[in-house]
Amino acid sequence: MPKSINYISYPITQTNTQNHTEFCNVFYHSFAQSEGKAEGQTIKTLVQNFLTTTASEDIYTFCANSANPPSDEPNQLVGAVILTRLFNDAGVELFMLSPMAVLPTEQGTGVGQGLIRHALDALKANGVQAVVTYGDIILYGKLGFKPISEDFLSAPKTKSHPEGWLSLALTDAPIPIITGKTRCVEAIADKQYW
Ligand SMILES: CC(C)(COP(=O)(O)OP(=O)(O)OC[C@H]1O[C@@H](n2cnc3c(N)ncnc32)[C@H](O)[C@@H]1OP(=O)(O)O)[C@@H](O)C(=O)NCCC(=O)NCCS
Repeated sequence: MPKSINYISYPITQTNTQNHTEFCNVFYHSFAQSEGKAEGQTIKTLVQNFLTTTASEDIYTFCANSANPPSDEPNQLVGAVILTRLFNDAGVELFMLSPMAVLPTEQGTGVGQGLIRHALDALKANGVQAVVTYGDIILYGKLGFKPISEDFLSAPKTKSHPEGWLSLALTDAPIPIITGKTRCVEAIADKQYW
């Protein structure tokens, strides 16, 4: 029987630091497995900074919980995603999806796509006009993201993989033209993340 998954908003304003640790650890385990322990720690630190330094109106966080975890599996949180505002002079409600992670044991079973869909629906309901991400077209292309050029929408920092810059409009209208550089939140402003 396929595992049942609950997709929910993850409230970062809560003072329950135990939950924050669990949220951050999903990123650690996922990236440590795919790219090594050092990268796992780097992304975990990035996530901790997102949670502690970003104004609540500039961040959305969502998680996927296993609805029926086996009794020998204490960690019920199996996936997590963060979206943060990209400030721009055109006044477009624009958010960037990054990073996201699914526990290695759960990957390839649709949790990631389900989590992104849940997040996009929630942002759309809150009036967000478009989402960009910096990632793999194979995964994000399945959800409607399309590659974009810097001429159309410039990234806040110089990217090491320009082909990974993707966007998705959340309204029926095309994404408005945004001239000039966009600006990201402080947590991800360091060029090592780009
Ligand atoms: C990338 C990731 C979040 C996807 O989550 P997932 O639950 O495994 O994804 P899904 O099962 O919903 O499937 C996503 C689709 O994208 C593809 N895909 C899965 N993992 C992928 C990866 N690491 N890179 C590229 N494409 C991937 C598959 O083709 C899959 O399509 P299919 O079901 O038609 O075969 C997860 O594999 C992960 O945490 N990887 C390590 C961390 C990472 O790379 N994060 C993303 C960058 S921020």
